Amino acid sequence: MTPLFRLLNIAAILDQALDFKEIAIDIDIMIQPENKLKQGWDVIVLAAAISAAIVTPLSIIFHLTRFSLLNLFNGLLVILFLVDIVVSSNTTFSLHGEIISDRKAITKKYLRGWFWPDLIAALPVGLLFFISGLLTAGGPLQLLRLNLLFKLPKASRTLSRTGGARVNPAILRLVLLVFWIFLAAHFISCSWILISGNPDGLDPVSLYIRSFYWTITTLTTIGYGDITPSGNIQTLFVVLIELIGAGMYGLIIGNIANLIANIDVAKSQYKEKLEKINTFLKYRNIPVSMQKKINNYYSYLWESRRGYDEFSVLQDLPDHLKVSVSLYLNKEIIEKVPIFQGAGEDFIKEIILNLTPVVFTPGDSIVKAGEVGFDMYFISKGSVDVMSADERIHYATLGSGQFFGEIALLLSMPRTATIKAREYCDLYRLDKDTFDRVLSRYPEFAETITAMAEKRSSEIQAASAGKKDQ
Ligand code: CMP
Repeated sequence: MTPLFRLLNIAAILDQALDFKEIAIDIDIMIQPENKLKQGWDVIVLAAAISAAIVTPLSIIFHLTRFSLLNLFNGLLVILFLVDIVVSSNTTFSLHGEIISDRKAITKKYLRGWFWPDLIAALPVGLLFFISGLLTAGGPLQLLRLNLLFKLPKASRTLSRTGGARVNPAILRLVLLVFWIFLAAHFISCSWILISGNPDGLDPVSLYIRSFYWTITTLTTIGYGDITPSGNIQTLFVVLIELIGAGMYGLIIGNIANLIANIDVAKSQYKEKLEKINTFLKYRNIPVSMQKKINNYYSYLWESRRGYDEFSVLQDLPDHLKVSVSLYLNKEIIEKVPIFQGAGEDFIKEIILNLTPVVFTPGDSIVKAGEVGFDMYFISKGSVDVMSADERIHYATLGSGQFFGEIALLLSMPRTATIKAREYCDLYRLDKDTFDRVLSRYPEFAETITAMAEKRSSEIQAASAGKKDQ
């Protein structure tokens, strides 16, 4: 079978559509929906469908019959829509998370879904009319040329899909709503011209603008009454548009109010949460300085991670996704901490999956000397002071990429020092169970961390001895 025939799965589709027997076509060219070229193609089809929806009604009402550019445009659309059928019948799809590339399954799905609207849109009605001279005939027959509009629903799906990944979904919905309203207004304007004709003998542009003005005033229920229907058909049409307008007006207002409220869900949820917390703090007479600290903490959370608690967001994901997202989110800390560099993938995964992000504000005590320790910490951002219990001896300042709290876990002894945040600190906490597990499984990690713990313990002893001697 030649590659062209292989690609032209149309034969297979028609076979199956007409309920013929088994289709035995072994085509190996398959297009993935995520493929960049395929996505580009979808955008081209989308643009073609929208321009067809705008131009075709205009060409019908203004009897543009000999306009060669228009016929060329119609011809291009037909070719484009035919190619799109070929592309769609060779595009894989995903079912319950599994990529289906079986030709028969693809054909079956396509036949049950978009194939028929795609086929109707690709019928060369305009061209046939042009060749047969029917274009000049006028009359309701011309409405058959609107077959191109069958491409619109699929194009609209492409619009929501391509936009959805890049734009805020609420804004996208608002844009789509406005787009559909304008397209509907365009169709109504064209229909009004079709029904009422051109009694004042206006030029096409003025005629369209006047009709569009009538549509908008009627749809928005303003209705100045300067353009009134004459005859039964026009009156019935106006009644219909008024009814649609009343419904649509309510729908638009409701939708816009809802969309605006949802444009930044994260921000409104954050504000609501902060308001609740502040009401509680005031109600329980929490000191102003503490209230300030809590508010600072939340504004830092908002600035650094839009108020989201990564831990709870990830909690709902299945394990494989959790690993990928965690690795992506925590890639900064993996790059920063020297002991993670060059470490095996399993080791990194084990640690990363068990890290909990925590934030401390300036002056917060993270670890207190003498307390029992249950966790160790990795510093992602900010710096901390390591001090003696009475905070008189300053042992060290640790910054981004360094860790602390390992001694208590390693030697099962109380914390050897007090640690305080010097500034806003983004830390990652590792619990004792994971620490012990990782230690027994990865001897290299055990060695590095033991060496560091021993070095730090002796530094503390030396510093304390020095202080006593003074
Ligand atoms: P831990 O004893 O669990 O809690 C206090 C932590 O401070 C300790 O673990 C070390 O991680 C850290 N620490 C102690 N001494 C030093 C030091 N001299 N330099 C840097 N960090 C230290």
